[in-house]
Amino acid sequence: MTKVITYGTFDLFHEGHYRLLKRAKELGDYLIVGVTTEEYDQTRGKMNVVDSLMTRIENVKKSGFADEVIIESSPGQKPLDIQKYQIDIFTVGSDWVGQFDYLSDYCQVVYLERTKNISSTMLRAQKKQIQRIGIIGTGRIAGRFVPEAKLVSGVSVEAVYNPHRESTVRFAEKWEIEAHSELEYFYQSVNAVYIASPHGTHYAYIKSALEHGKHVLCEKPMVLRQAQAEELFSLAKERGLILFEGIKTAYCPGFAKLLGIACSGMIGNVRSVEACFTKLESPKSRELTDLEYGGSFTELGSYVMLPIIKLFGNGFDDICFDTIEDAETGLDLFTKAHFRYENGIGTATCGLGVKSEGTLVISGTKGYIVVEAPWWKTAYFEVHHENPSDVEKYSERFLGDGLRYEISDFLSMINGSNKSEFKLTRGESVTMASVLEQFLRRKRERVRS
Ligand code: CTP
Repeated sequence: MTKVITYGTFDLFHEGHYRLLKRAKELGDYLIVGVTTEEYDQTRGKMNVVDSLMTRIENVKKSGFADEVIIESSPGQKPLDIQKYQIDIFTVGSDWVGQFDYLSDYCQVVYLERTKNISSTMLRAQKKQIQRIGIIGTGRIAGRFVPEAKLVSGVSVEAVYNPHRESTVRFAEKWEIEAHSELEYFYQSVNAVYIASPHGTHYAYIKSALEHGKHVLCEKPMVLRQAQAEELFSLAKERGLILFEGIKTAYCPGFAKLLGIACSGMIGNVRSVEACFTKLESPKSRELTDLEYGGSFTELGSYVMLPIIKLFGNGFDDICFDTIEDAETGLDLFTKAHFRYENGIGTATCGLGVKSEGTLVISGTKGYIVVEAPWWKTAYFEVHHENPSDVEKYSERFLGDGLRYEISDFLSMINGSNKSEFKLTRGESVTMASVLEQFLRRKRERVRS
């Protein structure tokens, strides 16, 4: 008996898939089809698969060609499957020519001609309206957004706005998008905006974008006042628009896994969360010269507050700040924010002028979790217990600059395929804005006295 194996996502099952499976079956007597999990697809940069794994498996079965369906969940699985199922022929479409030649050490490799003019990507694009995104701001983060957005199907970055014509044109030429220095024209080209301008400008841009009927993804910190956050979320709700705060950590798969484990009881009840993020900046940088909104807590506070608020909630009893300031500017070079909850303590440490180890430690009544630096790009963590040799290790991919995850979630919310913003709720964004407001108020009082 000749056994054949093939793999694929088989999203929105189409004629190309049908013809591939038919010919794969004809190569032998018994066909095994490996269908990829969503998590695996995400790690290889395939975001926004529409059909669930179960639907995709059902569709492969309905074709009538598969004698057996298996799940492909990790890279490196194929050679193991080939040996385990004693496969004679591995086959895949011609879009992969050459890429699986290494499997010829185990079995025959056959590339089948791909069916022309059809693909899941094409169908996804037809099924959903492509979201045309415009960027406000032309700085470093804006430059990271464009290549990341290219990896998410269903979005297209169309335009950039910055009141300074020269940098707008430079940015637009680099990324081959439209340049605008008039907001009204910019809004006509897009149906969603990504805001990556200086912190102090976010509120006005978000408001104007929502008033023009645009969905908004805004870089952290979204706003620096609680009332502003509340007002903007109500405005978005009233207009049926999505407003998302972009803290990349909140949306990355490793952080979601970490929260799941921290809440699972593995370390008992969580009692302490200590998060640290420092980044040495030049004294001439915007972060250390913007007298109103500069400093380490406004720059990095959103990251270090995130795990504390996610694990302990919005209702802390008390908060106090310890800061080391620059004598001339009054801006904080290093800050520790202590959150006191009924049953726990959170410490959020950040610095632009002091360097420290960027770890996250979550301590509980039965053990603790250490997330190694840079924990805000959550990729690896360990669970420890009283017995030092009792350690569980977890890893998850964090790809590229990690913005693809929040873009993908933003898109799912716009399309309605994801109804809840549980990864970073409105309430959590409002709490962060209120903490930043308290911090800035105390800073102003210190400067005055
Ligand atoms: N395939 C094919 N002809 C097509 C599309 C896909 O022969 N027009 C083959 C692929 O080469 C692969 C299998 O079908 O062997 C499963 O491919 P998959 O990646 O699931 O489908 P695509 O339509 O290529 O998906 P996407 O657009 O998301 O890459």
